Amino acid sequence: MLDLTILILKSLWYILPAYMANMSPVIFGGGRPLDMGKKFLDGRRILGDHKTIKGFASGILIGTLVGCLQGRSLTGFLLSSGAMLGDSLGSFVKRRMGIEAGGSAPFLDQEGFLIISILLSYPVEPLDIGSILFLLVVTPALHKGTNVIAHRLGLKGVDH
Ligand code: CTP
Ligand code: MG
Repeated sequence: MLDLTILILKSLWYILPAYMANMSPVIFGGGRPLDMGKKFLDGRRILGDHKTIKGFASGILIGTLVGCLQGRSLTGFLLSSGAMLGDSLGSFVKRRMGIEAGGSAPFLDQEGFLIISILLSYPVEPLDIGSILFLLVVTPALHKGTNVIAHRLGLKGVDH
């Protein structure tokens, strides 16, 4: 029981900068899109209007700040950069699949940012397999919960 509590707390402490980074664009995003409105070879947008420069930058800034407060600034930077890269990569794949900006793609929307953020931070601060599996399991539920709250607060048009 105590072991499980420690695993949960350790995992959430580890991933906190990535979670915070992922939430920031909903509050601080908007404006000029990261892809500058450009299209990919398939004629569809590279990323779409929902991935903005301000959102991307605010995610890295907030996540890094959280990491600094935790006393792990480099990990915080890597986790939040990974979160924003993974989030954008998810949108890139969604556009290639013909899913419009804001449309849902179950795995990509919830795990994309998580996987890339752990990949980037792992070399600097490794995480045990138990914690990685725990985060893969709980993140979709946490993601859904925060999206529903953001939707109710009027911060987000859709609740996924
Ligand atoms: N957002 C932003 N900049 C980013 C990422 C997100 O401004 N780099 C903002 C946008 O307002 C976006 C909202 O956060 O609508 C929610 O982000 P998310 O759910 O990740 O994007 P989607 O709207 O689902 O867009 P996509 O289909 O491209 O994933
Ligand atoms: Mg979405």
